[in-house]
Amino acid sequence: MACEEGLEHGAGAWPCEEGRGQGAGASACEEGAGQGAGAWPAGPLGPAGPDLRADLAGIPLANPVLVASGTFGYGREMARWFDLRLVGGIVTKGTTLAPRAGNPPPRIAETPAGLLNSIGLENPGVETVIREEIPFLRQFGVPIIVNIAGERVEEYAALAAKLDGVEGVSGLEVNVSCPNVRAGGMLFGTDPAASAAVVRAVRAVTCLPLLVKLTPNVTDIVAVARAAREAGADALTLINTLKGMAIDVRRRRPLLGAISGGLSGPAIKPVALRMVWEVAAAVDLPIVGCGGIMTGRDAVEFLLAGATVVAVGSATLVDPLAAPRIVTEMAACLAGEGFRSVREVVGLAHRAALEPLAEGSEQS
Ligand SMILES: Cc1cc2nc3c(=O)[nH]c(=O)nc-3n(C[C@H](O)[C@H](O)[C@H](O)COP(=O)(O)O)c2cc1C
Repeated sequence: MACEEGLEHGAGAWPCEEGRGQGAGASACEEGAGQGAGAWPAGPLGPAGPDLRADLAGIPLANPVLVASGTFGYGREMARWFDLRLVGGIVTKGTTLAPRAGNPPPRIAETPAGLLNSIGLENPGVETVIREEIPFLRQFGVPIIVNIAGERVEEYAALAAKLDGVEGVSGLEVNVSCPNVRAGGMLFGTDPAASAAVVRAVRAVTCLPLLVKLTPNVTDIVAVARAAREAGADALTLINTLKGMAIDVRRRRPLLGAISGGLSGPAIKPVALRMVWEVAAAVDLPIVGCGGIMTGRDAVEFLLAGATVVAVGSATLVDPLAAPRIVTEMAACLAGEGFRSVREVVGLAHRAALEPLAEGSEQS
């Protein structure tokens, strides 16, 4: 189905305000202030706190903290830990047309300040996801964004066509960035023309908001971001994992069954921030900032760099309560800095970067 004028699924009830730049308060979100509760209210959505609502390409979110694909499954296990209504939105595990068993084990390796994974898109296939997983998630009333992946352009289009119109699906995240599959995935995302071909094919069959998830394993991420925008992307998710590997000394062989994997966690945060910064400066699309976010302060850094919302990935694997905790911490951090809404913060560091540094604050 082609996109008809004004037929945007899930168009927000209120527009995303542009207003930016209301002054930073005197107190910074201090280093390490992320852990635990801040001074500001126990509940993240208390009336005295900043307005956390966000608009992601027409998807209205109660707060700007999504859970990142592949680190939250389809929410079943996590629903035992906390009320899923506390997060802004749920991005599902990468979903393919047919079920996939994924890569041989071991599929996870710890690294300093992060982890390597080579899951290989294990998932039950889109039919099961539509029949069993979406209805489960729907009960929480939180926007559901389905992450889709394929080996061929036609598979992405077929997935989008199947998910279009499924009750409760608010958007699609087009995964052209998985480093752990032999065909498709990152092979599309490292080439602007191939990324565009995928996005164009998906755009042709659905009006759902399209987030395109980009890989950091490129020299020029702006070129891929531009190509995705021109092909019809409504938003961009930055970043997927960085390709890496680990060696098992005792067994004298690669530690992961798939030999290489994707690096995530705090180790990649500076790379993710730099990429969000570059794309925000060059491409006029909302950005989901993702990569190493462990605290509310990390999340605010991404907003300042130009992300409209953030996604929490590996943090959930070390602390199942990470995402709701980060919502609370982010609210405390914003309140402490004198912000009244999340929207004021988005991209603010770009404006500040144009101003001269205060005397004595030059960097070496
Ligand atoms: C175990 C694991 C599985 C993942 N699976 C997917 C996936 O299926 N689709 C996808 O687009 N990204 C996947 N990712 C990437 C994350 O969504 C996220 O982009 C990345 O981990 C960086 O964020 P983080 O540092 O907060 O984890 C996966 C990451 C991990 C750690």
